[in-house]
Amino acid sequence: MSTVETITKAVAQIGDGPLREAGLIEHIHPLFSRVLARNQCTNEIYLANHSLGRPLDALSDDVQECLDAWYTDIDGAWGPWIAERETYRAAIAALIGCARPDAIVPKTSAGQGLRAVLNALPTTKPNIVTTRGEFDSIDFILKACAHKGRASMSWVDADQQGMFHPQSIIDAITDQTDLVVVSMIVFATGQIIEGLERIIAAAHAHGALVILDGYHAFGVIEIGFEQLGADFIIGGNYKYTRGGPGACFLGIHPKHLSQSGGVPEPDALFTTDTGWFAKQDTFGYTRTDRPAYAPGGDAWLEATPPAITYFQARSGLALTNALGVDRLRDYSLHQQQLLQTMLTDAKIPPRILDHHGAFTILAVRDGPVCIEKTKAAGVNADGRPCPTTGVFHVRLCPDILSTADELAQAVDRMAPIIRPMLATD
Ligand SMILES: Cc1ncc(COP(=O)(O)O)c(C=O)c1O
Repeated sequence: MSTVETITKAVAQIGDGPLREAGLIEHIHPLFSRVLARNQCTNEIYLANHSLGRPLDALSDDVQECLDAWYTDIDGAWGPWIAERETYRAAIAALIGCARPDAIVPKTSAGQGLRAVLNALPTTKPNIVTTRGEFDSIDFILKACAHKGRASMSWVDADQQGMFHPQSIIDAITDQTDLVVVSMIVFATGQIIEGLERIIAAAHAHGALVILDGYHAFGVIEIGFEQLGADFIIGGNYKYTRGGPGACFLGIHPKHLSQSGGVPEPDALFTTDTGWFAKQDTFGYTRTDRPAYAPGGDAWLEATPPAITYFQARSGLALTNALGVDRLRDYSLHQQQLLQTMLTDAKIPPRILDHHGAFTILAVRDGPVCIEKTKAAGVNADGRPCPTTGVFHVRLCPDILSTADELAQAVDRMAPIIRPMLATD
């Protein structure tokens, strides 16, 4: 049975209703026997699912399939490799709510997706509005561009609690703004930035484009990218979709895709992060004096692509699509609520945000020490200092492999460590 058939069958067995622990244990946990075998030989409870997602057993077989094609068919492997690239694009398109799979461009990092957009803007020194809460990779790329004189930045701050407000972002957008870069869910706190529609509408009204960082939203909440109307989205499979490193993407709103391809006007929206896979006739080896791009989203492809990442991400994407983001979201909120109650009862109350993603946060002092001690006590969690307030938040993310018993045990282990280290307002 193929990976997708195995997953489809397992998901069918849990039925259509809300996800429940018993059904997940019976039908879905067996798809993870390798990673769950750790539970027998280590004492660790894994709650860093918001960081590196846990892989299905099928992942190693899928990667093997990619390599086997190379051993047996040598260059004939490009057939199945490119076919898997298209499967990868279609699975991501389905997950983010985009009708056109070709609007998804495989990238090896989210940052690479951002650079492709920066290098597509009609101006060489764009005015960019972004927040102080973007993930380090994105923040660093933007600062590097500004330092080299290739961007002019407007930074939007959070409030005193480290929360971002749509109005502050809207207020920073002017007629001079070329691009707005904003996370859907803030990596350090899990805050869902509400009012994206308003931010996008304001940007468009001022003639600016919007790129969403959807990394912490991908596989967590319904994104509805096409309907939302943002121009671009970046994300990756490292976290919630269990696809490991290197399997990222840039999504381009279909309204920006050219139907016919060809040579764009120099001031049009086309990227110089390019290569022969973006050419109109990749394998024709014909050359034109000016760059003739492929039609549609293929114009955003670039040089010889990796193949393994498409296979690596196959099982996690198939599982996420089969379970459905809406059901995963409901289950995640249910688990987080349970965890939050347990934390509060254990006198280590979490910080509960009105709208948050897949993890729950605890504000602590001496963050790195706290994480070290927590890990030594058998709870694998992580944490980040809030980029604006400096407050360190431990991040706790249960997933479909986490049981209620594990959450209770994790709280028991963490409570004596965290209680004396809790940050007070
Ligand atoms: C919000 C967000 N964006 C992007 C990334 C990763 O960026 P990159 O793929 O460029 O390393 C992360 C990783 O944790 C993240 O949390």
